[in-house]
Amino acid sequence: MKIVDIIEKKKHKESLSEEEIKFFINGIMNKTIEDYQASALLMAIYFNGMNIDETTLLTKYMVESGEIIDLSDISNNVIDKHSTGGVGDKITLIFLPLMASMGIACAKLSGRGLGHTGGTIDKLESIPGFRTDLTIEELKSQVKRINAAIAAQTMSLAPADGKLYALRDVTATVDIIPLIASSVVSKKIASGANHIVLDVKYGSGAFIKTPQEAEKLSQIMVEVGRRLNRRISTVITSMEEPLGRAIGNSLEVIEVIEFLKGNCGDESDLKEVTYALAKTVMEKVNHYNSEKDMENHLDEVIRNGLALKKFKEIIKSQNGDDSVIDDYTKFPQASIKYEIKSKEEGYVFETDALKIAKACKNLGGGREKKSDSIDYSAGIYLNKKSGEKVIKGDTIATIYTNKQESIKDSEELVLSAYKFTPNFYNKKESYIYKIIK
Ligand code: URA
Repeated sequence: MKIVDIIEKKKHKESLSEEEIKFFINGIMNKTIEDYQASALLMAIYFNGMNIDETTLLTKYMVESGEIIDLSDISNNVIDKHSTGGVGDKITLIFLPLMASMGIACAKLSGRGLGHTGGTIDKLESIPGFRTDLTIEELKSQVKRINAAIAAQTMSLAPADGKLYALRDVTATVDIIPLIASSVVSKKIASGANHIVLDVKYGSGAFIKTPQEAEKLSQIMVEVGRRLNRRISTVITSMEEPLGRAIGNSLEVIEVIEFLKGNCGDESDLKEVTYALAKTVMEKVNHYNSEKDMENHLDEVIRNGLALKKFKEIIKSQNGDDSVIDDYTKFPQASIKYEIKSKEEGYVFETDALKIAKACKNLGGGREKKSDSIDYSAGIYLNKKSGEKVIKGDTIATIYTNKQESIKDSEELVLSAYKFTPNFYNKKESYIYKIIK
């Protein structure tokens, strides 16, 4: 078998056989296929797609390219939650303590920031001392002890995805459904959980731009999971605007702590999306009579402090300084706090997530290259969000940074992210587009 023949086949829109897909994955793992040949095949797939059989086989061989974690000695109901990537998306950090405080086991492997999107591991590392490099054994023993652990995804799980992702990132072949589906699902299967809930995001701050495409991606991921014996549900959510008000690593963790302390209004986007993901899992694991019962249970573990206590336990168990819960000055502090004043007035109609993410990156809150270090204190707090009234001179956002030289560009980006309407605008639209189980 020759890789050039496989590229030729995909170039002519033919579907690839199991042997050909296996040959491709083995070839990139044992380096008998060159990066330029793999890239050519990725581009052919980008233009000519893959059907569900090919996507399932690609996922299967990506899973088999590395270690597969066995969590069956913990329980038959171990949960994993994953987001396809967004801006201000700190939901994992709320979801885990909520579930764990109800006795639902969560073993979570997460990544770092990718492109303009933030990463859970970077957020956690803003907590002084927090260890994310747990071994698989450490992860499992912590889940057994306290029902939750979060570790950085290592290259031992689905390593073929690591290699392909690095190529996709530099050959403009990230945003295509069969490749995203196999990338996400292979890592989740290798991570060992039996219930997987995926937050599939669409909009300006996501890799997928429309809800229709997000739905297509969701259906494919659910079906690939079914064919590979894993239960996957997806919640399709909007990423037109950042989630919550904080964007940037330590600022987002502080927002999580505030949420778990119960300081989050019922109208909050964070609450709506977190509860939708949580309910999808809760109804699979426990018996509830109604959605309202599940919501009451979620409200209760926040009100009685159990979820916050669980977050503290996770921090402590992973070597972090758990006094951050009560003292936010323990987080890395930015030397500059700069308030952005509105030059317009009216009701906020839109806050473009991609522009806010770019501004946050400029301030030091993200990486340009994989090897860049990150400033955990840098970020943006949105004082105003959609539906809120603004008058000229109001602070619409606050910048936190140590890079004086980046303030002007970031301020311009933030100002251009805001769109106003003169008429009262009641943002009632739900962030949830659809749930696919
Ligand atoms: N997240 C992933 O893990 N893979 C993709 O391809 C896109 C988002």
